Amino acid sequence: MRIRRTALAAAGLGLALTLAACGQNAAAPSAPPAESAAPAGAIKVGVILPETESSARWEGFDKPLLQQAMQAEGLDADIQNALGDEQKFATLADSMIASGVKVLVIASISSESGAAVAAQAKAQGIPTIDYDRLNLNGSSDYYVSFDNEKVGELQGQGLVQALEGTANPQIIEIEGAPTDNNATLFYNGQQRVLGPKYESGEYTLVQSQKIDDWDNQVGGTTFEQILTGNGGRVDGVVAANDGLAGAIITVLTKYGLNGQVPVTGQDATAAGLQAILRGDQYMTVYKPIKQEAEATAKLAAALANGDTAAADAIATDTVEDPEGNRTVKSVLLEPELITRDNVKKVIDDGAVPASEVCVAETSAACQELGIATS
Ligand code: GAL
Repeated sequence: MRIRRTALAAAGLGLALTLAACGQNAAAPSAPPAESAAPAGAIKVGVILPETESSARWEGFDKPLLQQAMQAEGLDADIQNALGDEQKFATLADSMIASGVKVLVIASISSESGAAVAAQAKAQGIPTIDYDRLNLNGSSDYYVSFDNEKVGELQGQGLVQALEGTANPQIIEIEGAPTDNNATLFYNGQQRVLGPKYESGEYTLVQSQKIDDWDNQVGGTTFEQILTGNGGRVDGVVAANDGLAGAIITVLTKYGLNGQVPVTGQDATAAGLQAILRGDQYMTVYKPIKQEAEATAKLAAALANGDTAAADAIATDTVEDPEGNRTVKSVLLEPELITRDNVKKVIDDGAVPASEVCVAETSAACQELGIATS
């Protein structure tokens, strides 16, 4: 996709900053079948998810897929969401431990609160699994996620691909939460690709900004401030996930720049895939959460049965925890770059229903790409 250099007449930018529409991912994709009862006497496993606002993934993908995977392992999973509240996260852990869970799976809001919960569980002899996000200086026995630096590299590669033919592009980076180790890993991966281009002067970095809690609206207003502060000039945007990308695209649309400025993303949400088919977003990163949920359930089943050998046979990768100076046994799954050309892959995988991607304004693109909606 050729991106024409785009600049706005600065004079036309004397505009009050308005809240960019909230993240386009508020509506979670339709989840697979609701929770079904586990067999009587099944081993209890607790799962705490971090929030809902940062990404549609947690309630739309992770919760139903974890429920299905845990049930397939014969486990009775209690899956709750901390709604971005660290006190609630701790309270949920307390009640799950009191209810007799044999394993605790945590996708933490921050390493600090996640590590505290892991230590509390460990003190009661309950093994813990860091799900998707590693708790730095934590004590969880295992970590299941994706190769998150690779995620960032794919975001950087996607942006470079989109900027082919654009001379001296100016880039704005809107990154994830500073409390989320994944955001650091995504950034590190991006910089492996973009760093040399900044250093050589081929690209110009206008500003890079991490967004607390991945708050999509704040990401949008922050992007608008940087854009107007740069005289309305931007040629490419690194958005660390589809939720931030959606808010940024709302701002670009306000200035008539959407579809002219490539925007990255992550999570292959319905909203992100729609934005790609509309031409407003250049790419997303598909992380098959079904695989992440299944690996976690298998690991939890092994740990619930005290079978450490089986657990170690599942978690054959390792990651370093630089703050805790420890090596963590891990499952690191492979992410995939998705652009307009291979959106169909995500739908064929059953990760997102075609009905949630092929809507009125994307139906022509779906037809062109051979994505059937019936
Ligand atoms: C990260 C996660 C991403 C992203 C973000 C927002 O930790 O790995 O998928 O969506 O959180 O929730």
